[in-house]
Amino acid sequence: MQPEFLSQLYLAGLRWAHILAAMVAVGGLFYARFGLLPAMQVLDEESREKLHDGIRKRWLPWVIGSITLLLVSGLSNFLLFNEAAKAWEDGTWMKETSYHALFGVKFLLALGVFYFASGLVGRGEGTAWMRANRGKWLSVTILLAVAIVMLSGWMRGLHVGPNRVLDESADGVQLEVVEATETTESAAATEPAEEAPESAADTE
Ligand code: HEM
Repeated sequence: MQPEFLSQLYLAGLRWAHILAAMVAVGGLFYARFGLLPAMQVLDEESREKLHDGIRKRWLPWVIGSITLLLVSGLSNFLLFNEAAKAWEDGTWMKETSYHALFGVKFLLALGVFYFASGLVGRGEGTAWMRANRGKWLSVTILLAVAIVMLSGWMRGLHVGPNRVLDESADGVQLEVVEATETTESAAATEPAEEAPESAADTE
């Protein structure tokens, strides 16, 4: 197998692991807040506690697993990306896009989500205050998680990554974004003279 193919597979694996773990963690929060919690209100206090205990035993390994996967895949992704982007735009790309600042905010928000997600399903004395008001703290955790997904989408949009067709001769669409003015200028420079007047009039 080609080393290039293996490294692409490794990167794709990290990305899949990250997205799948995020789906499990965030999906579980939405289900708990808007499905399970309201439906449990018909039960008496004792039955609710029994149900919470049963959920804890089954759900805690998923919470711990997804947190571990998010941290491992996220940190590896970040380190590899840092290495790859080091030379972009003479080393100024990271600074110009504030990528590190965005990552820092995302990381802090993620720590908040991990804290609440494990406290809400755990049984430690120190996090009993969360479970005393599950609805409120689940909503707060969901808001933090939504902010993380939005921020991640933003960071992803700052670079095209492997979505780009690398070889211009290959079939497919070139996704590289080119400034509108630049496109017009280069189009005017390369188009035959008889086609130029119409497009020039359009852009003026
Ligand atoms: C609740 C926790 C988290 C959620 C919901 C989340 C979600 C996401 C999503 C949806 C993406 C976009 C994936 C893509 O389009 O390829 C992403 C990318 C990323 N995440 Fe996370 N993530 C979380 C935690 C973390 C943590 C803890 C780290 C680092 C330690 C991390 C580092 C990254 C990095 C470096 C990227 C790539 C961003 C880019 O394309 O420039 N994430 N994350």
